Amino acid sequence: MTNVSPTILSKLSVQLHTQPAHPLSTLRSLVESHFPAYAHLSSVSPLVTPHQNFDLLSFPPDHPGRSVTDSYYINKDLMLRTHTSAHEVDVFSRGEKTWLLTADVYRRDEIDASHYPVFHQTEGCRIVSADAAGMQEIQDDNARLEDHLRRSHILIEDVPHLSPTNPCQPAHDPKHTELIAKNLKLSLNSLILRLFGGKQAEGEPLRVRWIEATFPWTTPSFEVEVFFRGKWLEILGCGVIHQATLDNSNVPNKLGWAFGLGLERIAMVLYSIPDIRLFWSQDPRFLSQFKQGEINTFRPYSKYPTCFKDVSFWLPTDTTLHDNDFCDLVRDVAGDTVENVKIVSQLGLWG
Ligand code: PHE
Repeated sequence: MTNVSPTILSKLSVQLHTQPAHPLSTLRSLVESHFPAYAHLSSVSPLVTPHQNFDLLSFPPDHPGRSVTDSYYINKDLMLRTHTSAHEVDVFSRGEKTWLLTADVYRRDEIDASHYPVFHQTEGCRIVSADAAGMQEIQDDNARLEDHLRRSHILIEDVPHLSPTNPCQPAHDPKHTELIAKNLKLSLNSLILRLFGGKQAEGEPLRVRWIEATFPWTTPSFEVEVFFRGKWLEILGCGVIHQATLDNSNVPNKLGWAFGLGLERIAMVLYSIPDIRLFWSQDPRFLSQFKQGEINTFRPYSKYPTCFKDVSFWLPTDTTLHDNDFCDLVRDVAGDTVENVKIVSQLGLWG
């Protein structure tokens, strides 16, 4: 039995993240341009098995995300992915070592301006060989990124790479995990600087906060928040990939990191788009505001579709009616949904 409604079904083919000039597409390209050497995937079907979405990522059998009240199922063996992590094992199995995957994801949710049952994520992953050569590669990259960040106006509230509540995996050497976690943090701080940097008030640093987290397929795990326009905004989850996930992908002797970035949240603040439902709008008043590759401030417009009404009326010759009298009458009858009143023509008694 399926719980996928007609409204949800109609979203499957839309692919907002690949529609030229759409804010989600510009944001995807911006993230991709920050990782130019990575494979960039953006047209992977949203249909996955619960095995891909949950089991291969070590979700426990009783995880609430599995329930039919939280996720959309075509039938018991096929569902709409709830996150882009559902593709990690497939993409690693194909031999990709550094890749980004952007896609629509589906979760049953409440109705308000910041929730929608379909949204978009970019998954980013990097694995290297778990030997001296792999670790040297990470160390060199860390030195390069540290140098870049040192010269930028960014203030980072960090947590330790490893802690008793966010430990190293038993199969890993803590020294290796430290290097990988550091590479993850530096890579993401540098991405965040690219996305949000230069948009702070004069002289204010960009503030980024790292928080310990838990995900079934990463340890240690983190969440990242960015301080933007007076509020802390949670933008991503990430961590050092579990050995079990890499074993499921048939990539022995490797280790690495993964992150999942929520695109709507970021686009909403960067473009000042006040309602998540607007991303799905086909209204030219929305779509015509954007150009591919450019981030601009959204100009709000009426929620209602444009509709012209021609009104004609006759007045007795001994009556005068000022424009403002007519406008007050319109306001009383139709309220503020009326955007503009214009006189088209006025005729005297005999034309
Ligand atoms: N898939 C997680 C989510 O949707 C984010 C995540 C991705 C966390 C990769 C860790 C690693 O919340």
